[in-house]
Amino acid sequence: MDIDKIRQDFPVYKKYPKLCYLDTAASSLTAQPVIDAINDYYNSYSVNVHRGVYQLSFELTQKYEQARQTVADYLNASFEEIIFTRGASSALNLVAMSYGLNALKPGDEIIVSELEHHSHVLPWQHVAKKTGATLIYVPLTKEGRITVDNFKAVLTNNTKMVALTHVSNVMGYETPLKPIIALTHEKGALISVDAAQSLPHKTVDVKDLDCDFLAFSGHKMCGPTGIGVLYGKKHLLDEMTPVEYGGDMNDYVEKHDVTLKDIPYKFETGTPPIAAVLGLKAAIDYLKNIGETAILKHENTLKDLALEGLESIDGITVYNKNTDTGIIAFNFDGVHPHDAVTYFDEDDVALRAGHHCAQLVMKFLNVPATLRATFYLYNTKDDVAVFLKSIKAARTFFTEIGF
Ligand SMILES: Cc1ncc(COP(=O)(O)O)c(C=O)c1O
Repeated sequence: MDIDKIRQDFPVYKKYPKLCYLDTAASSLTAQPVIDAINDYYNSYSVNVHRGVYQLSFELTQKYEQARQTVADYLNASFEEIIFTRGASSALNLVAMSYGLNALKPGDEIIVSELEHHSHVLPWQHVAKKTGATLIYVPLTKEGRITVDNFKAVLTNNTKMVALTHVSNVMGYETPLKPIIALTHEKGALISVDAAQSLPHKTVDVKDLDCDFLAFSGHKMCGPTGIGVLYGKKHLLDEMTPVEYGGDMNDYVEKHDVTLKDIPYKFETGTPPIAAVLGLKAAIDYLKNIGETAILKHENTLKDLALEGLESIDGITVYNKNTDTGIIAFNFDGVHPHDAVTYFDEDDVALRAGHHCAQLVMKFLNVPATLRATFYLYNTKDDVAVFLKSIKAARTFFTEIGF
């Protein structure tokens, strides 16, 4: 991986050459080819898809649907199994509101985990309240992991739905999904996978994994905001009803009835985020070109270096020393993360402080909030050095003022 070349692909570094960006788990930086694809839409097309009966719209529609094929190929899915959404949150909500609300009943069990982002637990809380189904939590190990054995302990004949994250956005742990999915299917239940934090770092083959639903966002993988994807198995999507109705999702409209289009279109009403879809295609092409194995190796090297450095600094608690990805969750003993993060900003180090939309993880760790650093393909060993220097200086500062 030619890191100098990669950094040139992220124009934000030209504007802020000193920026030490370690907040990728929230949003990654946007790659130049993605920006080019978005600009190309507004410069060269700037019209709508599907509806226009003129050459420009035909051409654009073709490009737009090619983007869907790119996503399908990336996941090893079929074209019609790819639904464009606003982001991972709306994709995960679609499964809960369309499938969950209609399929579940009192006595059914939904397995979730404390590692879920709010967008993968709150929709199922809502479904449980509305349908009378029960929410069951996989017990985490002491380290905070989901294991196959712990999953088996809560899987019953009443389990109808499983909603689990692929990679935790706080702990960076990867869930052992393959055996969990096989066990889920043995019970005749379905699984929804939140891949928002895994797809930026590794490829996922949905056929091999055999998941029923999978969701992710463009803005965490060098792509644009406002675009996400829901993958669903064709036979399930065929049976599901939309949660939004309006233009472009229907064939014939009568006064009291409507014939819906086939999947994926019945789930996509209104003018879609065309520029963002084209940007997402560019992001996937970009990541494919670099190669996910190289990306994961690079970020893990930096993360290991950072962890080693953190270990030598007194007064720091790291919550996920064995993290599987580039995410490190930590705190300064006795210092609120929001106070600490202000200090780092002075050094142009962009870190995240807070509960990361994962308050159940905070409860598990018994802290109100954590700091979080994420290492990704554009980070360098210099970034690790700047990060550690800033941490050391902050530690000295907080010790001196009595924290
Ligand atoms: C694991 C995980 N799931 C879901 C989401 C929600 O993604 P979005 O805000 O793009 O809808 C996030 C965002 O932080 C996440 O980290």
